[in-house]
Order: sequence, then C-alpha cells, then structure tokens
Amino acid sequence: MEQYIIKGGIPLVGEVEIAGAKNAALPILSAAIMSDETVTLENLPDVNDINVLIESIEKIGAHVSRVDRHTVKINGSTIRNCSVDYESIKKIRASYYLLGALLGKYQEAEVPLPGGCNIGSRPIDQHLKGFRAIGADVNISRGNIIAKCERMTGAHIFLDVVSVGATINIMMAASRAEGRTIIENAAKEPHVVDAANFLNSMGADIKGAGTDVIRIKGVPKFHGCTYSIVPDMIEAGTYMFAAAATKGDVVLKNVIPKHLEAITAKLNEIGCEVEEGDDSVRVVASKRVRRTHVKTLPYPGYPTDMQPQISAVLALGQGTSIVTESIFENRFKYVDELSRMGANIKVEGNTAIIDGVSQLTGARVSSPDLRAGAALVIAGLAADGFTIVDDIVYIQRGYEDFDAKLRALGAEIRTVNSENEIRRFELSVG
Ligand code: UD1
Repeated sequence: MEQYIIKGGIPLVGEVEIAGAKNAALPILSAAIMSDETVTLENLPDVNDINVLIESIEKIGAHVSRVDRHTVKINGSTIRNCSVDYESIKKIRASYYLLGALLGKYQEAEVPLPGGCNIGSRPIDQHLKGFRAIGADVNISRGNIIAKCERMTGAHIFLDVVSVGATINIMMAASRAEGRTIIENAAKEPHVVDAANFLNSMGADIKGAGTDVIRIKGVPKFHGCTYSIVPDMIEAGTYMFAAAATKGDVVLKNVIPKHLEAITAKLNEIGCEVEEGDDSVRVVASKRVRRTHVKTLPYPGYPTDMQPQISAVLALGQGTSIVTESIFENRFKYVDELSRMGANIKVEGNTAIIDGVSQLTGARVSSPDLRAGAALVIAGLAADGFTIVDDIVYIQRGYEDFDAKLRALGAEIRTVNSENEIRRFELSVG
C-alpha cells in the first residue's frame, strides 16, 4: 500500500496549476452517455474516481477514447445494457449519477447502491423522490437501485435537504422527461452549474442553475458537443491552506476566484493575504495564523469538503477556533490523527474546539477519507520532522499528482511503498 512520506517545515513557494473539478466531472461524464453523438470532454482530472467511472461507462457498452491525459471522447450510441456492474463501481459514491443518466435516456437503470468516502450516513432518498416524482418506479433489490418508467413527465419537486447529488441527478433525468420540471431548494454549487451548462451544450433546456430554483424543459434527444470542465475549487482551496500552514507564497493558476470566496474570506480572517487575478489567486502567509470560527454550509457557504483542511491550519493558529460541521456527521475522524502530531483538538458532537499550538511534530498517521487525508498532508508539510501518511488511496481518488505538485512548490514529499523506501527518503533529505 502506497504512503506519503513528508519532511515538514518548508514554506511552499511557487505556482501550481489546478485541475478540472472531480465533482463536476463525475456527473458530466455520466451525462455524456445520454447523447448518441460523440461528446468531447476536456480538462478532466486524472484521478482514480474519474478513471473508475470511465471503466464503468465502457462496461455498459459506451465507447470511450482518450485523446490525451485530460481529454476523452465518449459515444453513448453503443450502450448495450442499463445495468451497472458492482465490482467496477463499488469504490465510488458518484455511481448514482448513472441512475439519472440511464433513466433519462433509456427509461430504465440498475445501479449498485453507492459506496465512497466514509464520512457519515449518506442517504439518497432525495434522488429517489425526484425520480419517482417524474414517473419512475424505484425499488432496491439485492443491493441495487432499480428504476424504470413507461413515460417520464415533468413535475414540481421540493427537495427536503439541499443536495448536490439529488439536484444534478434529477436535472439529468428530467431534462429528457416530457414537459416542465421545477426543482426547488436546489443546490447552488459550481458543479451543479457546470453540469447544467454541459447538459445545455448537448441540447437540454435548463434555466436557473446556481439559484435555488431550477426549471427544466424536457427535450427528446441530445446532440454531441465539446465541453471543458470547470476548475476544482476544492483542490485549489487545499493548496491555499497548504500555503497558509507552511507560511508560504503560492500562486494557483486555472481557478475561478469567485468560487473560492468562502475560502478566501477565512484566509483573510486568519491573517493571510489573498490576491485575486482573472483566473489565478495568490496566497501569501508570512506569520502564524489567527483563530477563527467556521461552520460548513451549502454553497455559497463554507464547503464541508474544506473542513478538515482548515482545521489542520487552525491547529497551528493563535488562540481557540471552533469548527462546526453541519453537512455530514462523521467528518472529524482525522482529529485523532492530528492529535498524534501534537494538535490540541476536542470534538463535541458536530463541533471541534481547536486550541492552536505553536508547532506540530511529524508522526505516522492514517488517512480516514479523501479530504481528511489532504488535511493530514497539510499538517505534515507544516510539522517539524517526518510524517508518514498511510492509506493515501483515498487521497488519490481526488487529487491529481498531489505529491508532484507539492514538490514543485518546494515540499519534500514522496510516494513510497516500503519501509526501505521510507528509510531511503529519510536519509536523502536528512
Ligand atoms: C457532494 C460531493 C461531496 C460534498 C457534498 C456536499 C460529489 C461526488 N460529492 O456529495 O464531496 O461533500 O456534495 O457539498 O459531488 N442528503 C439526504 N438525502 C439525499 C441526499 C443527501 O439526506 O438524498 C443529505 C446528506 O446526508 C448530507 C446533505 O444532504 O447531509 C448534503 O449531501 P449532498 O449534497 O447530496 O452530497 P453528495 O452529493 O453526496
């Protein structure tokens, strides 16, 4: 099993290119099979979750060809069956997007119940409520969700919780239903907007994405298109906090600064400078960060996917910070690992009380999930001495070339696979 080994204490300095957003690419790849003409997707991140989804799409018969590392061509005209194989997709939660795509295109879909990060119970009742509202029969049998319908007709759907996945999934299926669908209390995340823009590029008629009311007029078929995925705000935010934790000076390229506003606001509050360009952002952190309070909320609030990373930074802050997780109930599993590095954090319910310490020390820690793993890497980059992060398979699900990009910013970090390689690294960097 691969691990990262990090020698901490080096300020990150330089430029880093941000990849396409994983959480936009997952629904967009799924939706691409809804056209029988060729769809070209650009700026796809080369990360495990995306590659697993591409394999699953191929297995149901779609034709996928790689143009280069970040570009694929997909043709859904050759799809032979609407049942997605469990083995190929069990690792990713976003398998559920194939439900909306297949149901919309073929009026039937069978997809295994989703797996993915272990950050709490993750129901999909709102997705199913939406499918049922537009006329689908939805059952769960042998671990699979089976959805079918004779005729899909537009409906007025009020989501009980603001859900990114449900909003996009319903949007996909409803874009091929007869008549008009209205989704109220819709999620407003940039990836919801990106998925809507993509569907519209294939001929869908979706209005209002990015607000909490989305109006969809069903169309009978989609055509081909070329589409470039939006930059990844969570990958960007992760490097912004890595700069803050290491007192660095990092320029992020290929970002949409507007998407980063909640993160930028927190960096300003804790004493970092953030300069915005047209498609770049520079973070300069010259001193120990200050305390702040954070509460995760749906967009445009502070993202839950950036909660572990800011906690790693606040662990080194001056004073006591309070971080409240209001989206997922099990997102503080990294706290015990950070404590092993000397952090002083107490979790009570959905709140972490962080008493900042002046120094973290390297330790062997284990990554409990994708974003928590990234937070441990941030802590390791700032800590004194060597940190080994186990279970980096979670991190590789969502960060392209994480170690190489950090090395380009001056970090001492390597991917290793044995105790020997760890020792060699320790000897080589002293
Ligand atoms: C997506 C992101 C994930 C991010 C999350 C919130 C992808 C692949 N993943 O996950 O990284 O952390 O948005 O920004 O894009 N809920 C229900 N019923 C449902 C659906 C959701 O109760 O049917 C609840 C969830 O338990 C959670 C909240 O709604 O408390 C938000 O979840 P949701 O926005 O759906 O998250 P995902 O789309 O799964």
